[in-house]
Amino acid sequence: MRPSRGRPEAPPGAPRTDAGEAAGARGAAHVTARDAPRCVVTEAGGARAGVGSVRPMERPARKCVQVSGVDAIRVRGRKPLNGRIKVGGAKNAALPILCATLLSDGASRLRNVPGLRDIDTTAALLRFLGRDVMVDIPEVRLAEASGPARPEAPYELVRQMRASVLVLGPLVARYGKAKVSLPGGCAIGARPVDQHLKGLEALGATIHVEHGYIVAESQRLRGAEIVFDMQTVTGTENLMMAAALAKGRTTLVNCAREPEVEELGRVLNKMGAKVEGAGTSIIRIEGRDALDPFDHAIIADRIEAGTFLAAVGATGGTVLLEDVPTEDLEPVIVKLRQAGVEIERSGTGTVVARHGVLRAVDATTAPHPGFPTDMQAQLMALLTMAQGTSVLTETIFENRFMHVPELARMGADVEIRNNSAIVRGVTSLEGASVMATDLRASASLVIAGLVADGETVVRRVYHLDRGYERIEKKLAAVGADIERISLAEDG
Ligand code: EPU
Repeated sequence: MRPSRGRPEAPPGAPRTDAGEAAGARGAAHVTARDAPRCVVTEAGGARAGVGSVRPMERPARKCVQVSGVDAIRVRGRKPLNGRIKVGGAKNAALPILCATLLSDGASRLRNVPGLRDIDTTAALLRFLGRDVMVDIPEVRLAEASGPARPEAPYELVRQMRASVLVLGPLVARYGKAKVSLPGGCAIGARPVDQHLKGLEALGATIHVEHGYIVAESQRLRGAEIVFDMQTVTGTENLMMAAALAKGRTTLVNCAREPEVEELGRVLNKMGAKVEGAGTSIIRIEGRDALDPFDHAIIADRIEAGTFLAAVGATGGTVLLEDVPTEDLEPVIVKLRQAGVEIERSGTGTVVARHGVLRAVDATTAPHPGFPTDMQAQLMALLTMAQGTSVLTETIFENRFMHVPELARMGADVEIRNNSAIVRGVTSLEGASVMATDLRASASLVIAGLVADGETVVRRVYHLDRGYERIEKKLAAVGADIERISLAEDG
């Protein structure tokens, strides 16, 4: 890592004492029960009143999701889906926006927040950093900061959710120091964060890794021109947040163009930063000395919407989906239509139906606006029963076919060749006990269960709870025979 280019100018929110040193002095990360990402989030500190347009936090927090390692989903398949489903707020938009609250000391409010485990984990992380957070789904409110943050994201929280690395940019920009556990690999791949680190260095931070932690330090960050080696969603978001408090202008080139990046740009602009081009490959950011708190309603979740489109496409029936971000979902809609799923806009909703046979289609995952890797597993579940042979190629993550052996246990005929899955359609799937391996893999197993003969039990449902708010309730409401059950053990 090269030496800091930072000048001896304090970062915007630098505490009087070196907060980083103080954090370091506390030694290895230790997450107390108070910090742990459980569901019930009410705590005394959360009762402090907000300012501005944010209402006082007088009400007790509503429980978010029931976190249990032994929950499973039981599905009895072959029921068409009919009715209406409302799509919730976007997880991958809410997570960076929650982290953006660190850029300001004021009281912020997020609306249309989904009730997910990852939201609880982020709230726990923000609390660990010293902020009062009230999770009252569909809202999350942060009280005005009472002092400088403890700029440290401990291993115990980061290992539960890689997106915790999104506090790195805000912390170093705001407090001049951040100590964030290295995320490490995960079920879907190695997932390095080198682009985040190189970008922060270009903005003037010095970075080293010690005992599994990224330690970033700087005086005031300074605007720079940065070209990403590859498109990275959270990498783009981390640098946007850091640049928003940097001195001068930053140009980010080869940015991720995902709608969630665009959404973060909207929020940073609400906070007073000048962000141009979010959602395109070149983003220009004029940094500010200080940023304001904000009140913002999160966009709808394109991946949750896509998952329901695939579910109805697989089972047949007719469902009106409310709040589908159709434009953001175009690559998925096009592929599903080619596979024989009928998808039409109707007023404020989107009607999805299937009456004819499913046909094979090929798809290759790519950064937005390509076919999203987060929909590959769900499309595969649908294609297991299509006429003909489909080829699904995964280009984003090297290990994102973990659902294949589980689908095979249900009778699917899928062969993996390098980074492609060859899916030969079968006439029926049969229910089985299967194991969820990651978030989107779990959704694909639920879809397979919805079309299979007999009973399917999807274990390790905590993966599903990270990104789908009570999916079993939403599906049961449109006619699925599905419920959450408790298993004695989750081996
Ligand atoms: N990459 C690097 N170096 C970096 C950053 C990324 O080599 O510094 C590589 C990754 O290993 C991967 C590719 O670049 O091969 C793209 O990864 P990206 O950084 O875009 O992924 P991410 O930001 O960690 C977000 C979503 C994921 C989604 C991917 C791709 C959030 C919180 N997560 O992850 O969502 O799959 O973008 O679109 O936004 C999910 O919701 O299930 C999920 C995994």
